Amino acid sequence: MRVIKQPKKVSHKELVKWVDEVAKQCEPDQIYWCDGSQDEYDTLCEQLVNKGTFIRLNQEKRPNSFACFSDPSDVARVEDKTYICSKKASDAGPTNNWMDPSEMKAILTPLMKGAMRGRTMYIIPFCMGPLGSPLSKYGVEITDSEYVVVNMRIMTRMGQRALEEMGEDGEYVKAIHTLGAPLKKGQKDVQWPCNPTTKYIVHYPEERTIVSYGSGYGGNALLGKKCFALRIASSIAKEENWLAEHMLILGLEYPNGQKNYLAAAFPSACGKTNLAMIIPPEQFRDFKVTTVGDDIAWIKKGEDGKLYAINPEAGYFGVAPGTNYKTNPNAMATIASNTIFTNVGITTDGDVWWEEMTKEAPEGVINWKGEKHDPKKDQPVAHPNARFTTPAAQCPSIDSEWENPQGVPISAFIFGGRRSNTQPLVVQSFNWEFGVYSAATMGSEMTAAAFGEIGKVRRDPFAMLPFAGYHMADYIKHWLQFGRSLENPPAIYTVNWFRKDAHDKFIWPGFGENMRILKWICDRTNGMTSAKETAIGWMPEYKDLELRGINFTEEEFHEISKLDKQEWLKELSLHQVFFDTMHDKSPQEINNIRSLLLSGIWNS
Ligand code: GTP
Ligand code: SPV
Ligand code: MN
Repeated sequence: MRVIKQPKKVSHKELVKWVDEVAKQCEPDQIYWCDGSQDEYDTLCEQLVNKGTFIRLNQEKRPNSFACFSDPSDVARVEDKTYICSKKASDAGPTNNWMDPSEMKAILTPLMKGAMRGRTMYIIPFCMGPLGSPLSKYGVEITDSEYVVVNMRIMTRMGQRALEEMGEDGEYVKAIHTLGAPLKKGQKDVQWPCNPTTKYIVHYPEERTIVSYGSGYGGNALLGKKCFALRIASSIAKEENWLAEHMLILGLEYPNGQKNYLAAAFPSACGKTNLAMIIPPEQFRDFKVTTVGDDIAWIKKGEDGKLYAINPEAGYFGVAPGTNYKTNPNAMATIASNTIFTNVGITTDGDVWWEEMTKEAPEGVINWKGEKHDPKKDQPVAHPNARFTTPAAQCPSIDSEWENPQGVPISAFIFGGRRSNTQPLVVQSFNWEFGVYSAATMGSEMTAAAFGEIGKVRRDPFAMLPFAGYHMADYIKHWLQFGRSLENPPAIYTVNWFRKDAHDKFIWPGFGENMRILKWICDRTNGMTSAKETAIGWMPEYKDLELRGINFTEEEFHEISKLDKQEWLKELSLHQVFFDTMHDKSPQEINNIRSLLLSGIWNS
């Protein structure tokens, strides 16, 4: 095998040995060690253009940016093909697919044999978190996809620096990725290589190893993200007593300079990126909201007993449809240049378009299937899970401390699902245990980013259902004991921007107006505002919210805050059904809280 690029010296002997083993198994034509330079990025993008995978966008309108269309069989994470292969089935739990590691290896070994033939094997050393931070962790992804390399350069700190930081024997997570589309001699490549029938996203938590076969898309292929920073990391975090969470991190600064950082968990495509980059409305002109992260938070207890969080990522892999200058101006500014767009529409002047970017689809726009959009047909221009990959540093609201190696101090946690009924606008849990209960019972109506029937409620505890690397009941226990180890655990809030009225319209305006709720949450956390006690926690009264500047009536507030007894009795019985699926391990505290809530609702 020809090595076409290699660092002068790789001092990590075990890494060299592993790379050699993978090469022998996958039989690529060439081996290339990534240095992470701009030059390398540009060259690979050019190569992707020549292969027909990338389309270079209009240099004036969208400098240094590219668009691509994936294979229609490869558009989102494949949850039914995602496995946690812990040694024991009881360590993966009922919410994960499990297979015995040796059984899985018996399937993967023949698949991996020669899987990279005709392709180049790239070695990507990377760091999740700021380089050198005590909270960061290293990984090495081996991939046969140039698309993965250039996306990883935006999403992580990768290349020479990461390799140097790993030293001679630094710990790292092993991540092998192949498109599962070997090329025969002389065979021409397709625009989006992948394996249309066979896909496996496999985690061996005890071995700290990931193997991904057959997909080139997002979380299936950019292995630093969901596979490492959530599934493997959550399993490490349980052992080392910290938290790896599907959370955004934002800073809220009062006009007097006082600042709180909040971490918020929402399921996939439920508004994390929007909230992380929120621009406060007119009435809050002297407030400032800043972005630390939009998808993942790693949280540890500091020496002062407070919680500190880092964003392990260096870029955003954000949902494109619905993003516009009204819903998320900061995201629009971030993606103005140096961005990769996947499965969006392309306009006749070489720019991008997606649903709701503007009112109407521009004349002649090419849809994500590469065809001219026909407004008469009921087909979207962009795939609902179309995404942009863009450098975090380009975000106008990026927090000054976003790369602080010590992380930022977290004052409160927020959990939010997508519920058209039952769940009120905002509730503060009575204490940590009640908060853990509400996070554990989060429900969300399905979106295109996840696997399942669109619109159906699925329990998504902590927004981690597809991302917890171990048994969900143990995960809930970990949160319970983690809180007990804190002298002053942060307050926990539940929000729901998605409640609908009798006419199926969202009651709450959402987006930028969510600032009004963030402000109440910070005020509460800082002991600056009052709240009303209800059966499920404390809620603001109408007068407690800053509602100047929007037409949000007391009746609407009542409608979005009311706890319907029948709905809640049903809800609590559904919680029980969910906990019953984990009956072997479900923590006793959870049953106790449920009884308390049930009697509260009965007596309300
Ligand atoms: P992942 O990247 O998949 O983890 O998702 P995310 O949570 O970052 O999702 P994102 O912020 O991209 O969510 C986008 C979807 O949420 C779009 O459909 C938006 O229209 C919708 N959304 C975001 N904020 C609000 C809101 O305040 N109100 C309403 N009604 N919809 C919202
Ligand atoms: C999600 O689905 O929660 C994402 C996108 O953030 S992906 O990286 O594809 O998982
Ligand atoms: Mn996500």
